[in-house]
Amino acid sequence: MAAYLVDLSPGDMQRRLREALSIYVDAMRYPRGTEDQRAAMWLEHTRRRGWKAVAAVELPEPPDGSVPSREELLRAPMVGIAYGYCGAPDQWWQQQVVAGLHRVGADEARIAELMSSYFELTELHIHPRAQGRGLGEALARRLLADRPESHVLLSTPEINGESNRAWRLYRRLGFTDVIRDYHFAGDPRAFAILGRALPL
Ligand SMILES: CC(C)(COP(=O)(O)OP(=O)(O)OC[C@H]1O[C@@H](n2cnc3c(N)ncnc32)[C@H](O)[C@@H]1OP(=O)(O)O)[C@@H](O)C(=O)NCCC(=O)NCCS
Repeated sequence: MAAYLVDLSPGDMQRRLREALSIYVDAMRYPRGTEDQRAAMWLEHTRRRGWKAVAAVELPEPPDGSVPSREELLRAPMVGIAYGYCGAPDQWWQQQVVAGLHRVGADEARIAELMSSYFELTELHIHPRAQGRGLGEALARRLLADRPESHVLLSTPEINGESNRAWRLYRRLGFTDVIRDYHFAGDPRAFAILGRALPL
């Protein structure tokens, strides 16, 4: 099989939402049924300013080395999904990050600088059977190419020793700490907020 990346329009995401959510649930090892809780939110996100999504899909290796058409890619089985959008003050995530920045003593100038122009890398997931082939990095690079924002921010669960593929990927891409051990309202897990300047 050969893997390809394809940009998704909001309509494409709507059509492939179930598949994208199932990759997310398998990659994050969340319980089945989480898809149902997230579906409306993922659709709402497609309407946010600067929303962009990229899927990784698989097709049999073409015998003649030809490149499949966009239509073929949009019908191919999905193995990875990534999306994000431009951060804004009315978004829950930004409000949570601002509260966290206050908690760690960041001054208003630093908060304004961080919040004024950023792309939130909201989701990045590769199905477990397709991980470890560089697809996650390829999705992140495609998503972050040609962005108008001055930097990118994301949150990822804290892991002992930063020892998982997500952490290795973000560090390899040059992400640095913005807030560590942060608890979003309503979630018992600790998260790190990481960021880096754009362009990548
Ligand atoms: C985090 C995640 C998106 C990273 O995607 P990935 O495709 O698995 O990983 P990367 O693109 O970083 O690739 C890294 C691996 O591919 C290998 N690789 C890199 N380029 C390659 C290439 N061109 N060909 C083959 N292998 C390659 C690297 O050697 C590395 O392997 P290793 O981790 O065994 O050392 C993915 O692992 C995932 O979905 N994890 C679970 C969900 C998750 O944590 N999401 C992020 C939440 S914030």
